Amino acid sequence: MPALPAPERRIDMSAVVDLPEEQHPDRVRLRFLQSGEDRAVKEARVLAGTTIFDAASWNGVAIDSTCGGHGTCKKCKVKVVSGSAPISAVDPRAFSVEELKNGWRLACRANTQEDLTIEVPPLQTRPKAALAGVGRHIILRPAVQKRFVELDESTLEDQQSDLERLLAAMDDVELRVPLGIVRELGGTLRRANWKVTAVLADDLLIDVEPGDTSGHRHAIAFDLGTTTVVATLLDLETGLPKAVRSILNAQQPFGADVISRISAIMMDDDALERLQQHAHETLQQLTDEVCAEADVDRADVYEIVVAGNQTMIQIALGIDPEPLSMAPFTVATRRMPEAAATDFGVAVHRRAPAVTFPALGAYVGPDIVAGILATGITLDRRVRLFIDVGTNSEIVLGSSARTLATAAPAGPAFEAAQIRCGMRAADGAIEGVKIVDGEVELTVIGDVAPLGLCGSGLVDAVAELVGAGMLDQSGRFILDTSERFGTIGEENVFYLSDDVYLSQRDVRELQFAKASIATGWNLLCRDLDIEPGEIAQVLLGGSFGSYLSAASAVKIGLVPKLPLTRIVSAGNVAGEGAKIAALSVTERAAARAVLDEVEYVELSGRADFNDLFVDQLAFPE
Ligand code: FES
Repeated sequence: MPALPAPERRIDMSAVVDLPEEQHPDRVRLRFLQSGEDRAVKEARVLAGTTIFDAASWNGVAIDSTCGGHGTCKKCKVKVVSGSAPISAVDPRAFSVEELKNGWRLACRANTQEDLTIEVPPLQTRPKAALAGVGRHIILRPAVQKRFVELDESTLEDQQSDLERLLAAMDDVELRVPLGIVRELGGTLRRANWKVTAVLADDLLIDVEPGDTSGHRHAIAFDLGTTTVVATLLDLETGLPKAVRSILNAQQPFGADVISRISAIMMDDDALERLQQHAHETLQQLTDEVCAEADVDRADVYEIVVAGNQTMIQIALGIDPEPLSMAPFTVATRRMPEAAATDFGVAVHRRAPAVTFPALGAYVGPDIVAGILATGITLDRRVRLFIDVGTNSEIVLGSSARTLATAAPAGPAFEAAQIRCGMRAADGAIEGVKIVDGEVELTVIGDVAPLGLCGSGLVDAVAELVGAGMLDQSGRFILDTSERFGTIGEENVFYLSDDVYLSQRDVRELQFAKASIATGWNLLCRDLDIEPGEIAQVLLGGSFGSYLSAASAVKIGLVPKLPLTRIVSAGNVAGEGAKIAALSVTERAAARAVLDEVEYVELSGRADFNDLFVDQLAFPE
């Protein structure tokens, strides 16, 4: 099954941060008084130094803006009524001296250094927003901005340089200017009769285009998965996807998982370069496909965002991933240095930057940080659990107060690699199993004869056998309960169809995998000092977790025993995180902050791991 982006859902997300003071001494408390009918009050705690605009948008307080917080529209006027916020360089252009004295500030320029109470006037314009991630409402604020400027022609009386003239028209931003821009600037200005559009990616001037091209800006969000790679072409004006495509990662011939790809690199000097080449080809093919489908010129794509696990990102950037594969599992860098789309082999706008996510560790990598962004776990006051189920399963548990993350090696059961009749989730794979009155009902992908069992089918089959009393709590087949039991060689098997069966060893593989994951979240609950029953929501993510039946996941003990409505499929959260980062620099900053806010918990070597693991092997009563 291709890893498709999650359907958009609305989940009530109370994002008001409410933290015990002592845990975050560097935070400040903000009280927003929203003018209007009900004069709502909202409180938030944020890191000191966060702008009022960012704090407001993270906490669902709407502030006027048409520039998305870039300091140019001067619409984000707020009044600081208690505490004080420094006057920024732009404030005097927006307010009179009297207004400044009375506490009026531009929210996007106002850094918070102490506790503040802020009055927010009613909205004059509706901020553009998009739904992305797990029901998250993202206020559009792309890093890519366009500014149309009409300049005065240079004369003998006015001998400003071309660059000075251009920058003076955008004096509210401090821009970095690459040499290539200066090389072309003189010709462009004169050809375009001094009417040009500057293209900015954050503080980098990436192009000066003749005429008014504002209104056309795009980005591509990639999820560079080990198996599947997904590209979403985003219209940055509207926040809407214009085209979505997914294909298999062309690295497949080097092995199905990250370990086999790293092994290939360790055994062959040329393999890194070849794997990098395959990643680039995959990303470029997707780029061509989404641009063709949406009829968008590749040169109008000004930025790419790439989410993926640390191994995939390192290989794509030509960084040897070998140290990721053996203790002490060292990442090359937690925060990638600035990169360009060309570093990922992607030909879009020639100066388009490439944005990546930070890594908490070798196995809680950029894909999980993107997932944390998409799920909004660190912004929500409810305690939620996010599990990306796979060969290496990542587990994140927490809320805005405190969030922990870990990785649990689950083995290949979920990928169906070690399962006798295992296969990828493709046509012919049994993806669902029901046992009603001893009769087996199968759901097969593609509505064809069953050829094998994919991960979700495996979990269903085991859960149903337990439920039907054909498998005991310890994971042993109860052979006299069905005529479908048989033997192959020495091994007992349960026939799901004439050719597809589940073996006793398959059940063991699944038990190890689910015990590893359950041990992970149990230990995180211990560290957070909560009972599993207190978890408000479980999000199952990743290309595998998203297709798991909540009922079966509970029955085998893969997730805590909670009402099924609390267990939701989160879809392709890494891809959603990449989209969010393309749509909002504020959210991108929140992803960077994950590195400081989320604590990584190492499971190996913990004294309590083994006992708990053994307890978790059994299926729940
Ligand atoms: S949001 Fe436009 S100036 Fe602050």
